[in-house]
Amino acid sequence: MAMQNIYGPEDNVFIQTHPLIQHKISMLRDINTGTNEFRKLIEEIAVLMGFEALRDLPLEDREVVTPIETCMTPFVAGKKLAIVPILRAGLGMVSGITTLVPTAKIGHIGMYRDEVTHEPHEYYCKLPKPIELRTILVLDPMLATGGSATDSITLIKERGGKKIKFLCIIAAPEGIKRLHEAHPDVQIYVGHLDRELNENAYICPGLGDAGDRIFGTK
Ligand code: PRP
Ligand code: URA
Repeated sequence: MAMQNIYGPEDNVFIQTHPLIQHKISMLRDINTGTNEFRKLIEEIAVLMGFEALRDLPLEDREVVTPIETCMTPFVAGKKLAIVPILRAGLGMVSGITTLVPTAKIGHIGMYRDEVTHEPHEYYCKLPKPIELRTILVLDPMLATGGSATDSITLIKERGGKKIKFLCIIAAPEGIKRLHEAHPDVQIYVGHLDRELNENAYICPGLGDAGDRIFGTK
C-alpha cells in the first residue's frame, strides 16, 4: 500500500507510505543536505507524489499505427492540468510535476507568513484560464498551520477552480486539520505526517525553512 488515510477511508487525506518517498524525505531533513541536493530531492519527491496524485486522470482511446497493426490505445484525455505552486517554496516542486505532464499550464500564488501572527498574506495571484475546466495541483512542500494552503485554495475557488488537489511533502497535524476542515472536497497528498508545530509555528521535526533551503537565502 502506498498511501493511508488518517480520518477514515473517505477523508480525502492521503499520507504517502512509499519507501522511496520516505527515504528522500529523511535526506531532505538533514541539516547537512546542501542547496543543490535539497533541490534535486524536492524535485524527485514531487515526481513520486505527482505520480500517485494523478492516478485518476481521465483517459481516452485514440488510434495509433504500430509496426504490427492499427489499434485504439489510451492517452490522457485533454490538456487540462494546471499546476499552482505557492511562492516561494512550491516552485521547487514544479519541475517534478512537469516531468510527468509537460503540457500542464502553470499559475502562481504568492503568500508569505507574518512572522508574529503566522497568518498568511497574499501578494500575487495569476492562474491559467479557463481555470474552472482544469484539474489543479497546488504545490507547497510545507503544510504547517495550514493558513497559506487554505487561503490559496480559497483564492483559486473564488476564481472558479473546482477540481483541486494539494500536494505537500511534510505536514503538521494542525495544518491538515485546518485545510481539510476548510476545504473537505480538496484531496490532500502528504509525503510525511510530522509530530507537531513548535512555538514559532515550525514543523517538528520538519526540515526548517523550505524556501530558504531551496533558494539558499539563509
Ligand atoms: C512557508 C511554506 C508555506 C508556508 C507554510 O512559506 O512554503 O507556504 O510557510 O506555513 P503555514 O502552513 O503555516 O501557512 P513562507 O511563508 O515561509 O514563504 P516563503 O516560501 O517565501 O519562504
Ligand atoms: N514553513 C517552512 O518552510 N517550514 C516550516 O516548518 C513551517 C513553515
